[in-house]
Amino acid sequence: MAEWVQATTVDAVPEGGGVEVTVNGRIVAVFRVGEEFFALDGICPHAGGPLGKGRLDGTVVTCPWHGWQFDVRTGEHCLNPNICQASFPVKVEDGKVFVQL
Ligand code: FES
Repeated sequence: MAEWVQATTVDAVPEGGGVEVTVNGRIVAVFRVGEEFFALDGICPHAGGPLGKGRLDGTVVTCPWHGWQFDVRTGEHCLNPNICQASFPVKVEDGKVFVQL
């Protein structure tokens, strides 16, 4: 059963950016858009690039390795709807960001 695990803190995620964290041994990319937070599997499905280190424009993250782009709200690839990166529910409590894995 999925459990909520603390991934990071609100202050650790720059507004309009993301961070790469390890949660229960899994690499997760956590993004902040305004006051909303989103989490994707942090390993790009193309060739394993670090999505948490990608540039965020609005709700679209660009993989730093070869430029694949994903909507951080859904994990959908921006050009190929057949590719969808795993995403995780996120909640914020007391300045801490939790993801459900
Ligand atoms: S590894 Fe992400 S675009 Fe190639």
